[in-house]
Amino acid sequence: MKRLKIKEVLTGSQKGQQVLVKGWVRTKRGSKNVNFVALNDGSTINNLQVVADVEKFGEDFLKDINTSTSLAVTGDLVESQGSGQSVELIATEIEIYGKADPEVYPIQPKKHTLEFLRENAHLRFRTATFSAVFRIRHAMAFAIHKYFNDKGFYYMHTPIVTASDAEGAGQMFHVSTLDPLNPPVTEEGEVDYAQDFFGRPTNLTVSGQLEGELGATALGEIYTFGPTFRAENSNTTRHLAEFWMIEPEMAFYDLSDNMDLAEDFLKYLTKYALDNCMDDLKFLSNRLTQEEKNKPQDQRSMELIEKLNFIVDNDFVRCTYTGAIDILRNSKPFKKKKFQFPVEWGVDLQSEHERYLVEKHFKKPVILTDYPKDIKAFYMKQNDDGKTVAAMDVLFPQIGEIIGGSQREENYDKLITRMKEMDIPAEEMWWYLDTRRFGTVPHAGFGLGFERFILFVTGMGNIRDVIAFPRTPKSAEF
Ligand code: 4AD
Ligand code: MG
Repeated sequence: MKRLKIKEVLTGSQKGQQVLVKGWVRTKRGSKNVNFVALNDGSTINNLQVVADVEKFGEDFLKDINTSTSLAVTGDLVESQGSGQSVELIATEIEIYGKADPEVYPIQPKKHTLEFLRENAHLRFRTATFSAVFRIRHAMAFAIHKYFNDKGFYYMHTPIVTASDAEGAGQMFHVSTLDPLNPPVTEEGEVDYAQDFFGRPTNLTVSGQLEGELGATALGEIYTFGPTFRAENSNTTRHLAEFWMIEPEMAFYDLSDNMDLAEDFLKYLTKYALDNCMDDLKFLSNRLTQEEKNKPQDQRSMELIEKLNFIVDNDFVRCTYTGAIDILRNSKPFKKKKFQFPVEWGVDLQSEHERYLVEKHFKKPVILTDYPKDIKAFYMKQNDDGKTVAAMDVLFPQIGEIIGGSQREENYDKLITRMKEMDIPAEEMWWYLDTRRFGTVPHAGFGLGFERFILFVTGMGNIRDVIAFPRTPKSAEF
């Protein structure tokens, strides 16, 4: 008999027939005469109730069926007697693939903390919460490709190993095959990278943007979607050392076109989740509501599905950095000295400021533009005021910055002057500068932090819980 997925079986279309399903036991409860096994195969958050007659299968056999035991079950699919499900499977044959001894299997059917599950990240997929998160993560990755494909963008694979620091922030992981205890040394006593694998120092990429610009200035509109790496020592709920980023780059776009695309893109993805992931979202919404019951009323977040609809239905606010500084300096928390970090023109905004603007002041997603040039990367288009650049950050509730982007400086002279001011090695980036020497065009792009977006959609609170195996300072288990 052909195995069916539980998602399909639960539609009830096979009612009255024999079916074969395979999966892992979530829970088992029983009486003297009959055992009820909740079986899950990952195809849906919902379990199939398997009914096993004790006399037929024998107590000895049934005692090996515990949480996480893997089974193949053949049976008759009938209308369910109990509430909570429409159909159930009356087992005629049960095969145990692998037992899971309840004395040692760590993920028992009780409430575990997310910290505990993180330490057991190899098994946490088997919980309802994490299976929901990872199904949604998949759906969002698919929706990203669909969105750009439908719009005529080309998916471009930019290199993981690179010799340049796109963001100029120096937060890179070095890639080398030299013996760290005994590296070749130059006459000046420095490590001789000429003898390294690539013949020069190389790193894991922090962004695919620079190469993306090369593609966009020929193909028109491209996007990257790949892993990026940052050796920043930020142990927060929003930072990973290895995260995935989506970076569209578009020729002939200015900052305003860039903002329009970013807003449309985020709304599309959110709507896609609402249209395609409702079972998982409902589960996560209930989870969040339970979780937040202990919080004071004013610290609770909006109900998850309501929050997602809110994003789809409302225009994002657009405001300049200078305007935001004014708002912050006139705010209650500023006057009462509640902000931990300073607020004055020229400083980088911290997440406490971003969240104030989004959650308290505007109560909507916000796109901040035109930041001081000294706190932004060398490639951003210089504004006529000589002080700011055509940057944009999209700020979301509970997350803060979710997208960072800009119009790019397309003028060769201005770009190279800025690179020199900022100590960016222009000679090594001759290939990047060539786009400005030959057929340069106005262009723009942005980067969406994939995990930050998944945090938002799933309502999870810690970025370590939306990527399968998080890499953070002092942690690279699994
Ligand atoms: O603002 P960032 O640094 O921008 C860039 O890298 C540009 N090259 C993008 C572009 O214009 N093509 O990073 C973009 C986004 C941030 O807004 C944030 O969502 C995410 O990437 N991000 C991180 N996510 C998780 N962990 C980290 N350590 C992150 N650093 C940035
Ligand atoms: Mg940024």
